[in-house]
Amino acid sequence: MDQRDETRLRLISGEFANSVSEALSGWLVGIAVDRSVQGGVDPSGEVHERIVAVVRQLVADLEPRVRQAISADVDQPTGSPLAVLRDGIGPLNGLLSEIGAAPPRRDRVAVEIFPEDTYELGPAAFSDIDPSLQEAGITWGAARAHVHLQRRDGRGASPVESATVSDKPTFETVLTAVVDVEGWMTDDQARQLHDQASLLKSGEKMVEVGSFRGRSIIVVALAADEQVEVIAIDPHGGGDRGPQEISPDQARGDEDHAVFTANLSEAGVFDRVRHIRKLSSSALGDVGGDVALLYIDGAHRFGPARSDIVDWGNRVRPEGTMLIHDSFSSIGVTMALLTTTFGGGRWRYMGRNQSMAEYRRAELGPLDRVRNLLRQTLQLPWFLRNVTIKVLLTLRLKPLTRLLGHAGSDWPY
Ligand SMILES: C[S@@+](CC[C@H](N)C(=O)[O-])C[C@H]1O[C@@H](n2cnc3c(N)ncnc32)[C@H](O)[C@@H]1O
Repeated sequence: MDQRDETRLRLISGEFANSVSEALSGWLVGIAVDRSVQGGVDPSGEVHERIVAVVRQLVADLEPRVRQAISADVDQPTGSPLAVLRDGIGPLNGLLSEIGAAPPRRDRVAVEIFPEDTYELGPAAFSDIDPSLQEAGITWGAARAHVHLQRRDGRGASPVESATVSDKPTFETVLTAVVDVEGWMTDDQARQLHDQASLLKSGEKMVEVGSFRGRSIIVVALAADEQVEVIAIDPHGGGDRGPQEISPDQARGDEDHAVFTANLSEAGVFDRVRHIRKLSSSALGDVGGDVALLYIDGAHRFGPARSDIVDWGNRVRPEGTMLIHDSFSSIGVTMALLTTTFGGGRWRYMGRNQSMAEYRRAELGPLDRVRNLLRQTLQLPWFLRNVTIKVLLTLRLKPLTRLLGHAGSDWPY
Protein backbone atom coordinates (compact mmCIF):
# COMPACT_ATOMS: atom_id res chain seq x y z
CA MET A 1 0.00 0.00 0.00
CA ASP A 2 1.41 3.41 -0.95
CA GLN A 3 0.86 5.98 1.83
CA ARG A 4 1.29 8.83 -0.67
CA ASP A 5 -1.73 7.62 -2.63
CA GLU A 6 -3.76 7.31 0.58
CA THR A 7 -2.81 10.88 1.49
CA ARG A 8 -3.57 12.07 -2.03
CA LEU A 9 -7.02 10.45 -1.86
CA ARG A 10 -7.72 12.22 1.44
CA LEU A 11 -6.75 15.54 -0.12
CA ILE A 12 -8.78 14.92 -3.28
CA SER A 13 -11.80 13.85 -1.19
CA GLY A 14 -11.49 16.89 1.08
CA GLU A 15 -11.27 19.29 -1.85
CA PHE A 16 -14.09 17.57 -3.69
CA ALA A 17 -16.31 17.61 -0.58
CA ASN A 18 -15.62 21.37 -0.22
CA SER A 19 -16.52 22.02 -3.87
CA VAL A 20 -19.76 20.02 -3.62
CA SER A 21 -20.68 21.74 -0.34
CA GLU A 22 -20.10 25.17 -1.82
CA ALA A 23 -22.27 24.37 -4.84
CA LEU A 24 -25.21 22.90 -2.89
CA SER A 25 -27.21 26.04 -1.95
CA GLY A 26 -26.89 27.68 -5.36
CA TRP A 27 -27.84 24.48 -7.14
CA LEU A 28 -30.88 23.78 -4.93
CA VAL A 29 -32.22 27.35 -5.16
CA GLY A 30 -31.52 27.32 -8.91
CA ILE A 31 -33.45 24.13 -9.65
CA ALA A 32 -36.35 25.15 -7.38
CA VAL A 33 -36.63 28.52 -9.18
CA ASP A 34 -36.27 26.79 -12.53
CA ARG A 35 -39.02 24.24 -11.82
CA SER A 36 -41.32 26.97 -10.45
CA VAL A 37 -40.99 28.93 -13.67
CA GLN A 38 -41.45 25.80 -15.79
CA GLY A 39 -44.47 24.90 -13.65
CA GLY A 40 -46.10 28.31 -14.17
CA VAL A 41 -45.36 29.85 -10.75
CA ASP A 42 -43.62 33.21 -10.30
CA PRO A 43 -40.63 32.38 -8.08
CA SER A 44 -40.21 35.90 -6.68
CA GLY A 45 -41.38 37.49 -3.40
CA GLU A 46 -42.84 35.14 -0.83
CA VAL A 47 -42.26 32.07 -3.01
CA HIS A 48 -38.55 32.89 -3.17
CA GLU A 49 -38.39 33.29 0.60
CA ARG A 50 -40.00 29.89 1.06
CA ILE A 51 -37.56 28.31 -1.38
CA VAL A 52 -34.59 29.82 0.44
CA ALA A 53 -35.92 28.64 3.82
CA VAL A 54 -36.39 25.04 2.62
CA VAL A 55 -32.98 25.05 0.92
CA ARG A 56 -31.31 26.29 4.10
CA GLN A 57 -32.79 23.39 6.05
CA LEU A 58 -31.94 20.91 3.32
CA VAL A 59 -28.32 22.01 3.16
CA ALA A 60 -28.01 21.74 6.95
CA ASP A 61 -29.29 18.16 6.71
CA LEU A 62 -27.56 17.01 3.53
CA GLU A 63 -24.20 18.74 3.57
CA PRO A 64 -22.64 16.69 6.41
CA ARG A 65 -24.03 13.46 4.95
CA VAL A 66 -22.66 14.21 1.50
CA ARG A 67 -19.29 15.09 3.03
CA GLN A 68 -19.31 11.82 4.92
CA ALA A 69 -20.14 9.84 1.77
CA ILE A 70 -17.34 11.54 -0.18
CA SER A 71 -14.74 11.11 2.55
CA ALA A 72 -15.74 7.59 3.67
CA ASP A 73 -12.95 5.05 3.73
CA VAL A 74 -12.88 2.99 0.53
CA ASP A 75 -13.42 -0.18 2.53
CA GLN A 76 -16.39 1.24 4.37
CA PRO A 77 -18.52 2.93 1.73
CA THR A 78 -21.53 4.68 3.21
CA GLY A 79 -23.40 4.97 -0.09
CA SER A 80 -22.97 7.29 -3.04
CA PRO A 81 -23.06 11.06 -2.43
CA LEU A 82 -25.43 11.41 -5.39
CA ALA A 83 -27.76 8.87 -3.79
CA VAL A 84 -27.68 10.87 -0.53
CA LEU A 85 -28.83 13.94 -2.48
CA ARG A 86 -31.45 12.05 -4.47
CA ASP A 87 -32.88 10.45 -1.34
CA GLY A 88 -32.87 13.69 0.64
CA ILE A 89 -34.36 16.09 -1.86
CA GLY A 90 -37.99 15.23 -0.98
CA PRO A 91 -38.77 18.50 0.91
CA LEU A 92 -38.08 20.54 -2.23
CA ASN A 93 -40.46 18.35 -4.25
CA GLY A 94 -42.97 18.93 -1.45
CA LEU A 95 -42.56 22.71 -1.57
CA LEU A 96 -42.96 22.86 -5.36
CA SER A 97 -46.16 20.89 -5.07
CA GLU A 98 -47.43 23.18 -2.26
CA ILE A 99 -46.85 26.35 -4.29
CA GLY A 100 -48.77 24.78 -7.20
CA ALA A 101 -45.97 24.34 -9.74
CA ALA A 102 -47.01 21.94 -12.50
CA PRO A 103 -44.62 18.96 -12.54
CA PRO A 104 -42.65 18.27 -15.74
CA ARG A 105 -43.46 15.36 -18.05
CA ARG A 106 -41.22 12.52 -16.92
CA ASP A 107 -39.35 9.84 -18.76
CA ARG A 108 -40.70 6.32 -18.10
CA VAL A 109 -37.36 5.05 -16.83
CA ALA A 110 -36.95 8.01 -14.46
CA VAL A 111 -40.43 7.41 -13.01
CA GLU A 112 -39.62 3.76 -12.45
CA ILE A 113 -36.28 4.42 -10.77
CA PHE A 114 -37.15 7.56 -8.79
CA PRO A 115 -40.95 7.52 -8.37
CA GLU A 116 -40.93 10.19 -5.63
CA ASP A 117 -38.86 12.72 -7.55
CA THR A 118 -41.90 14.37 -9.16
CA TYR A 119 -40.02 17.50 -10.27
CA GLU A 120 -36.89 15.68 -11.49
CA LEU A 121 -34.64 17.38 -8.97
CA GLY A 122 -32.31 14.49 -8.09
CA PRO A 123 -28.88 14.71 -9.76
CA ALA A 124 -27.83 11.90 -12.12
CA ALA A 125 -24.25 13.16 -12.21
CA PHE A 126 -22.11 15.67 -10.31
CA SER A 127 -22.26 17.92 -13.38
CA ASP A 128 -26.00 18.37 -12.72
CA ILE A 129 -25.06 20.17 -9.49
CA ASP A 130 -22.44 22.28 -11.21
CA PRO A 131 -20.64 21.62 -14.52
CA SER A 132 -17.32 22.36 -12.81
CA LEU A 133 -17.82 19.27 -10.60
CA GLN A 134 -17.77 16.79 -13.50
CA GLU A 135 -14.00 16.52 -13.86
CA ALA A 136 -13.46 16.64 -10.09
CA GLY A 137 -16.03 13.84 -9.62
CA ILE A 138 -14.23 11.60 -12.10
CA THR A 139 -10.87 12.31 -10.43
CA TRP A 140 -12.34 11.52 -7.02
CA GLY A 141 -13.90 8.24 -8.23
CA ALA A 142 -10.70 7.17 -9.98
CA ALA A 143 -8.58 7.99 -6.89
CA ARG A 144 -10.85 5.85 -4.72
CA ALA A 145 -10.66 2.96 -7.19
CA HIS A 146 -6.88 3.27 -7.29
CA VAL A 147 -6.47 3.14 -3.50
CA HIS A 148 -8.93 0.29 -3.30
CA LEU A 149 -6.84 -1.73 -5.76
CA GLN A 150 -3.60 -0.83 -3.99
CA ARG A 151 -4.89 -2.01 -0.64
CA ARG A 152 -6.09 -5.21 -2.23
CA ASP A 153 -2.63 -5.80 -3.69
CA GLY A 154 -1.03 -4.99 -0.34
CA ARG A 155 -3.04 -7.29 1.86
CA GLY A 156 -4.32 -9.76 -0.69
CA ALA A 157 -8.01 -9.40 -0.07
CA SER A 158 -10.84 -6.91 -0.32
CA PRO A 159 -14.40 -8.09 -0.54
CA VAL A 160 -15.23 -6.88 -4.02
CA GLU A 161 -12.14 -6.53 -6.13
CA SER A 162 -10.16 -9.58 -5.15
CA ALA A 163 -13.13 -11.81 -5.79
CA THR A 164 -12.00 -15.35 -6.45
CA VAL A 165 -14.17 -18.28 -7.35
CA SER A 166 -14.74 -19.04 -3.68
CA ASP A 167 -14.73 -15.50 -2.31
CA LYS A 168 -16.84 -13.28 -4.52
CA PRO A 169 -19.37 -10.70 -3.46
CA THR A 170 -22.82 -12.21 -3.23
CA PHE A 171 -25.36 -11.37 -5.90
CA GLU A 172 -27.20 -9.22 -3.34
CA THR A 173 -24.01 -7.17 -2.75
CA VAL A 174 -23.55 -6.77 -6.49
CA LEU A 175 -27.16 -5.65 -6.90
CA THR A 176 -26.66 -3.03 -4.19
CA ALA A 177 -23.67 -1.69 -6.10
CA VAL A 178 -25.86 -0.94 -9.14
CA VAL A 179 -29.04 0.11 -7.39
CA ASP A 180 -28.48 3.76 -8.35
CA VAL A 181 -27.14 3.09 -11.83
CA GLU A 182 -29.71 3.85 -14.51
CA GLY A 183 -30.56 1.18 -17.06
CA TRP A 184 -33.19 -1.20 -18.35
CA MET A 185 -31.97 -4.47 -16.85
CA THR A 186 -34.28 -6.07 -14.32
CA ASP A 187 -32.97 -7.70 -11.13
CA ASP A 188 -33.70 -11.17 -12.53
CA GLN A 189 -31.77 -10.34 -15.67
CA ALA A 190 -28.92 -9.01 -13.54
CA ARG A 191 -28.83 -12.35 -11.77
CA GLN A 192 -28.66 -14.21 -15.06
CA LEU A 193 -25.76 -12.02 -16.22
CA HIS A 194 -24.08 -12.33 -12.83
CA ASP A 195 -24.35 -16.12 -12.85
CA GLN A 196 -22.96 -16.40 -16.37
CA ALA A 197 -20.09 -14.03 -15.54
CA SER A 198 -19.18 -15.99 -12.41
CA LEU A 199 -18.79 -19.16 -14.50
CA LEU A 200 -16.01 -17.59 -16.59
CA LYS A 201 -12.53 -18.95 -16.07
CA SER A 202 -9.26 -17.13 -15.60
CA GLY A 203 -7.94 -15.87 -18.95
CA GLU A 204 -11.36 -15.87 -20.64
CA LYS A 205 -12.96 -12.83 -22.18
CA MET A 206 -16.34 -11.18 -21.77
CA VAL A 207 -17.61 -8.60 -24.29
CA GLU A 208 -20.60 -6.33 -23.83
CA VAL A 209 -22.08 -4.44 -26.78
CA GLY A 210 -23.97 -1.42 -25.39
CA SER A 211 -23.05 -0.35 -21.88
CA PHE A 212 -24.95 2.93 -21.41
CA ARG A 213 -24.22 4.11 -17.85
CA GLY A 214 -22.55 0.90 -16.68
CA ARG A 215 -25.32 -1.04 -14.93
CA SER A 216 -24.73 -4.39 -16.64
CA ILE A 217 -20.95 -4.18 -17.03
CA ILE A 218 -20.54 -3.39 -13.32
CA VAL A 219 -22.46 -6.58 -12.54
CA VAL A 220 -20.11 -8.55 -14.79
CA ALA A 221 -16.95 -6.92 -13.43
CA LEU A 222 -17.97 -7.65 -9.85
CA ALA A 223 -19.07 -11.21 -10.56
CA ALA A 224 -16.24 -12.40 -12.80
CA ASP A 225 -12.89 -13.76 -11.71
CA GLU A 226 -10.09 -11.14 -11.50
CA GLN A 227 -8.29 -12.73 -14.42
CA VAL A 228 -11.27 -12.52 -16.78
CA GLU A 229 -10.93 -9.72 -19.32
CA VAL A 230 -14.03 -7.52 -19.23
CA ILE A 231 -14.65 -5.36 -22.30
CA ALA A 232 -17.40 -2.77 -22.77
CA ILE A 233 -18.13 -1.45 -26.26
CA ASP A 234 -20.23 1.70 -26.47
CA PRO A 235 -19.70 4.80 -28.62
CA HIS A 236 -21.61 6.98 -26.13
CA GLY A 237 -22.90 8.99 -29.03
CA GLY A 238 -26.36 9.51 -27.58
CA GLY A 239 -28.04 7.47 -30.36
CA ASP A 240 -29.74 4.05 -30.21
CA ARG A 241 -29.66 4.71 -26.53
CA GLY A 242 -32.98 3.54 -25.14
CA PRO A 243 -36.68 3.31 -26.02
CA GLN A 244 -37.45 5.91 -28.70
CA GLU A 245 -34.00 7.53 -28.38
CA ILE A 246 -32.61 6.61 -31.79
CA SER A 247 -31.00 9.75 -33.28
CA PRO A 248 -27.43 10.55 -32.23
CA ASP A 249 -27.06 13.37 -29.71
CA GLN A 250 -23.46 14.04 -28.77
CA ALA A 251 -24.23 16.12 -25.67
CA ARG A 252 -26.41 13.28 -24.35
CA GLY A 253 -23.68 10.76 -25.25
CA ASP A 254 -20.97 12.76 -23.48
CA GLU A 255 -23.14 12.93 -20.39
CA ASP A 256 -23.64 9.14 -20.55
CA HIS A 257 -19.89 8.70 -20.86
CA ALA A 258 -19.16 10.89 -17.84
CA VAL A 259 -21.78 9.10 -15.75
CA PHE A 260 -20.53 5.70 -16.96
CA THR A 261 -16.98 6.57 -15.85
CA ALA A 262 -18.14 7.89 -12.49
CA ASN A 263 -20.40 4.86 -11.90
CA LEU A 264 -17.59 2.40 -12.63
CA SER A 265 -15.25 4.33 -10.35
CA GLU A 266 -17.80 4.41 -7.59
CA ALA A 267 -18.34 0.65 -7.85
CA GLY A 268 -14.56 0.15 -7.68
CA VAL A 269 -14.34 -1.47 -11.13
CA PHE A 270 -12.99 1.39 -13.22
CA ASP A 271 -9.68 -0.44 -13.70
CA ARG A 272 -11.36 -3.78 -14.33
CA VAL A 273 -13.26 -2.77 -17.45
CA ARG A 274 -11.70 -1.93 -20.80
CA HIS A 275 -14.03 0.51 -22.50
CA ILE A 276 -13.88 0.79 -26.27
CA ARG A 277 -15.68 3.98 -27.24
CA LYS A 278 -16.71 2.91 -30.73
CA LEU A 279 -19.67 1.45 -32.59
CA SER A 280 -19.61 -2.34 -32.21
CA SER A 281 -19.17 -2.70 -35.99
CA SER A 282 -15.95 -0.64 -35.79
CA ALA A 283 -14.58 -2.40 -32.71
CA LEU A 284 -14.13 -5.91 -34.10
CA GLY A 285 -10.43 -5.28 -34.73
CA ASP A 286 -9.89 -4.01 -31.16
CA VAL A 287 -10.59 -7.35 -29.52
CA GLY A 288 -8.44 -10.37 -30.27
CA GLY A 289 -9.15 -14.04 -29.68
CA ASP A 290 -12.23 -15.93 -28.55
CA VAL A 291 -15.03 -14.53 -26.45
CA ALA A 292 -16.50 -16.77 -23.75
CA LEU A 293 -19.47 -14.58 -22.83
CA LEU A 294 -21.09 -12.05 -25.15
CA TYR A 295 -23.83 -9.70 -24.01
CA ILE A 296 -25.64 -7.81 -26.78
CA ASP A 297 -27.59 -4.74 -25.72
CA GLY A 298 -26.52 -2.08 -28.23
CA ALA A 299 -28.49 -0.69 -31.16
CA HIS A 300 -31.89 -2.39 -31.37
CA ARG A 301 -32.62 -1.63 -35.01
CA PHE A 302 -32.67 -4.66 -37.32
CA GLY A 303 -29.44 -3.95 -39.26
CA PRO A 304 -27.02 -3.30 -36.39
CA ALA A 305 -28.71 -5.86 -34.10
CA ARG A 306 -28.28 -8.54 -36.78
CA SER A 307 -24.65 -7.56 -37.40
CA ASP A 308 -23.92 -7.85 -33.67
CA ILE A 309 -25.42 -11.35 -33.57
CA VAL A 310 -23.55 -12.45 -36.69
CA ASP A 311 -20.20 -10.65 -36.38
CA TRP A 312 -19.73 -10.62 -32.61
CA GLY A 313 -21.51 -13.97 -32.31
CA ASN A 314 -18.86 -15.44 -34.62
CA ARG A 315 -16.25 -14.55 -32.03
CA VAL A 316 -17.86 -16.68 -29.32
CA ARG A 317 -16.01 -19.92 -28.63
CA PRO A 318 -17.74 -23.33 -28.86
CA GLU A 319 -19.99 -23.83 -25.82
CA GLY A 320 -19.65 -20.09 -25.12
CA THR A 321 -22.72 -18.04 -24.19
CA MET A 322 -24.51 -15.17 -25.91
CA LEU A 323 -27.09 -13.16 -23.98
CA ILE A 324 -29.33 -10.78 -25.90
CA HIS A 325 -31.45 -8.11 -24.26
CA ASP A 326 -34.83 -7.05 -25.68
CA SER A 327 -35.24 -10.36 -27.48
CA PHE A 328 -38.85 -11.12 -28.33
CA SER A 329 -39.67 -7.59 -27.28
CA SER A 330 -37.99 -5.11 -29.64
CA ILE A 331 -39.11 -5.55 -33.27
CA GLY A 332 -35.59 -4.97 -34.65
CA VAL A 333 -33.92 -7.45 -32.31
CA THR A 334 -36.61 -10.07 -32.84
CA MET A 335 -36.37 -9.76 -36.64
CA ALA A 336 -32.60 -10.14 -36.26
CA LEU A 337 -33.15 -13.36 -34.29
CA LEU A 338 -35.65 -14.62 -36.85
CA THR A 339 -33.02 -14.29 -39.58
CA THR A 340 -30.13 -15.78 -37.60
CA THR A 341 -30.65 -17.97 -34.55
CA PHE A 342 -34.12 -19.29 -35.50
CA GLY A 343 -33.20 -21.41 -38.50
CA GLY A 344 -29.42 -21.48 -38.24
CA GLY A 345 -27.76 -24.39 -36.53
CA ARG A 346 -25.12 -22.50 -34.57
CA TRP A 347 -26.96 -21.20 -31.53
CA ARG A 348 -28.88 -23.39 -29.12
CA TYR A 349 -31.73 -21.45 -27.51
CA MET A 350 -31.52 -22.02 -23.73
CA GLY A 351 -34.48 -19.91 -22.60
CA ARG A 352 -35.14 -16.34 -21.56
CA ASN A 353 -35.57 -14.18 -18.53
CA GLN A 354 -38.24 -11.71 -19.63
CA SER A 355 -36.48 -10.25 -22.68
CA MET A 356 -32.99 -11.54 -21.92
CA ALA A 357 -32.48 -14.58 -24.13
CA GLU A 358 -29.64 -17.00 -23.60
CA TYR A 359 -27.94 -18.90 -26.42
CA ARG A 360 -25.13 -21.48 -26.34
CA ARG A 361 -22.71 -21.81 -29.25
CA ALA A 362 -23.19 -25.29 -30.73
CA GLU A 363 -23.29 -27.29 -33.94
CA LEU A 364 -26.86 -28.57 -34.07
CA GLY A 365 -27.91 -31.68 -35.98
CA PRO A 366 -31.10 -31.69 -38.12
CA LEU A 367 -33.43 -32.83 -35.32
CA ASP A 368 -31.96 -30.39 -32.85
CA ARG A 369 -32.40 -27.60 -35.37
CA VAL A 370 -36.11 -28.30 -35.66
CA ARG A 371 -36.46 -28.39 -31.88
CA ASN A 372 -34.47 -25.17 -31.61
CA LEU A 373 -36.67 -23.46 -34.18
CA LEU A 374 -39.81 -24.61 -32.40
CA ARG A 375 -38.64 -23.43 -28.98
CA GLN A 376 -37.92 -19.95 -30.31
CA THR A 377 -41.15 -19.83 -32.33
CA LEU A 378 -43.04 -20.50 -29.10
CA GLN A 379 -41.78 -17.13 -27.81
CA LEU A 380 -43.55 -15.22 -30.59
CA PRO A 381 -46.89 -14.85 -28.74
CA TRP A 382 -44.96 -13.11 -25.96
CA PHE A 383 -43.35 -10.89 -28.60
CA LEU A 384 -46.78 -9.97 -30.01
CA ARG A 385 -47.99 -9.17 -26.50
CA ASN A 386 -45.02 -6.84 -25.95
CA VAL A 387 -45.50 -5.06 -29.26
CA THR A 388 -49.19 -4.59 -28.42
CA ILE A 389 -48.26 -3.13 -25.03
CA LYS A 390 -45.82 -0.71 -26.66
CA VAL A 391 -48.49 0.40 -29.17
CA LEU A 392 -51.04 0.90 -26.37
CA LEU A 393 -48.56 2.89 -24.27
CA THR A 394 -47.67 5.05 -27.28
CA LEU A 395 -51.39 5.71 -27.82
CA ARG A 396 -51.66 6.60 -24.10
CA LEU A 397 -53.98 3.66 -23.43
CA LYS A 398 -52.10 2.45 -20.38
CA PRO A 399 -55.16 0.98 -18.57
CA LEU A 400 -55.61 -1.48 -21.44
CA THR A 401 -52.08 -2.83 -20.94
CA ARG A 402 -53.19 -4.22 -17.57
CA LEU A 403 -55.38 -6.66 -19.47
CA LEU A 404 -52.12 -8.05 -20.84
CA GLY A 405 -50.63 -8.32 -17.36
CA HIS A 406 -48.40 -5.25 -17.74
CA ALA A 407 -47.82 -2.96 -14.77
CA GLY A 408 -46.50 0.61 -14.93
CA SER A 409 -45.90 2.89 -17.87
CA ASP A 410 -42.53 1.47 -18.86
CA TRP A 411 -42.07 -0.42 -22.09
CA PRO A 412 -41.71 -4.14 -21.40
CA TYR A 413 -38.16 -5.47 -21.33
C1 LIG B 1 -30.02 -0.16 -23.82
S1 LIG B 1 -28.53 0.72 -23.60
C2 LIG B 1 -27.47 -0.44 -22.84
C3 LIG B 1 -27.82 -0.70 -21.39
C4 LIG B 1 -26.76 -1.45 -20.62
N1 LIG B 1 -26.46 -2.73 -21.20
C5 LIG B 1 -27.24 -1.63 -19.19
O1 LIG B 1 -27.83 -2.65 -18.86
O2 LIG B 1 -27.05 -0.73 -18.41
C6 LIG B 1 -27.96 0.80 -25.23
C7 LIG B 1 -26.54 1.37 -25.38
O3 LIG B 1 -26.06 0.93 -26.64
C8 LIG B 1 -25.22 1.92 -27.15
N2 LIG B 1 -25.12 1.73 -28.59
C9 LIG B 1 -25.93 2.19 -29.56
N3 LIG B 1 -25.49 1.79 -30.76
C10 LIG B 1 -24.39 1.03 -30.54
C11 LIG B 1 -23.49 0.32 -31.38
N4 LIG B 1 -23.66 0.31 -32.70
N5 LIG B 1 -22.46 -0.33 -30.81
C12 LIG B 1 -22.30 -0.33 -29.47
N6 LIG B 1 -23.12 0.31 -28.62
C13 LIG B 1 -24.16 0.99 -29.15
C14 LIG B 1 -25.86 3.22 -26.74
O4 LIG B 1 -24.91 4.26 -26.72
C15 LIG B 1 -26.44 2.88 -25.37
O5 LIG B 1 -25.59 3.33 -24.36
